[in-house]
Amino acid sequence: MRCISKTLLFPDLCCFICMVVDSLRILMEMQADSVEPEKSDFLQPLDSEIQTWISKAFDMALEALENGEVPVGCLMVYNNEIIGKGRNEVNETKNATRHAEMVALDQVLDWCRFREKDPKEVCEQTVLYVTVEPCIMCAAALRLLHIPLVVYGCKNERFGGCGSVLDVSSDHIPHTGTSFKCIAGYKAEEAVEMLKTFYKQENPNAPKPKVRKDLISPPDGAVVIQVKRGPQDEESETIAPLS
Ligand SMILES: *[C@@H]1O[C@H](CO)[C@@H](O)[C@H](O)[C@H]1NC(C)=O
Ligand SMILES: *[C@@H]1O[C@H](CO)[C@@H](O)[C@H](O)[C@H]1NC(C)=O
Ligand SMILES: [Zn+2]
Repeated sequence: MRCISKTLLFPDLCCFICMVVDSLRILMEMQADSVEPEKSDFLQPLDSEIQTWISKAFDMALEALENGEVPVGCLMVYNNEIIGKGRNEVNETKNATRHAEMVALDQVLDWCRFREKDPKEVCEQTVLYVTVEPCIMCAAALRLLHIPLVVYGCKNERFGGCGSVLDVSSDHIPHTGTSFKCIAGYKAEEAVEMLKTFYKQENPNAPKPKVRKDLISPPDGAVVIQVKRGPQDEESETIAPLS
């Protein structure tokens, strides 16, 4: 990860992510030969398969939402079999790196260990289905583990590592795994709705109507004006007359 370029917007986040990415990279270089492989042909799932798997990823996201976590869920599918699944567990574990993808990747590595399979060979044939575009950290982890294809729901405008903030998925980054392809937009509205639901619950400062229009009528001579506070929240404010 070239830390200094592009990422001045989030310097702290960037440094943290760089640390994570660097340690992951060192780990992986110890395990695998570090020559960047040719972009391999990935398995292109049928639309019907995508629909099936992405729905299951949404079940995981819903579970996150019900447990007070940022609603992101995912599956890792290898040979038509789920070998890892995860949902955000950041609050529960008090560990900022426990994103759905990291949880699922850990399961994939366990699955390989248990069956004495080579993680690289398995990951090269594994597709990630996730409700939201992977963040920069997760995109780097996916790259380092040679996941070839990611299917996701909505974009992650704040932290997305597959084009929204950085292009970890497809940039040329030497000695950092294999670039991967993304297919975006499956059930994107549903993913956004879940995120909105979560952030509404979370934010005690979310705008609430201050004036009950139906109960309070403005004093004589005052004017009621409509104030827009964001896309959907309309509030009335009572302004006293100037003279
Ligand atoms: C986050 O976890 C704490 C316990 O560690 C819990 O008390 C709190 O309710 C959780 N937050 C949400 C939004 O569920
Ligand atoms: C947080 O999770 C990561 C794996 O995602 C793990 O390596 C690390 O040790 C954990 N940190 C703590 C403080 O438990
Ligand atoms: Zn992430």
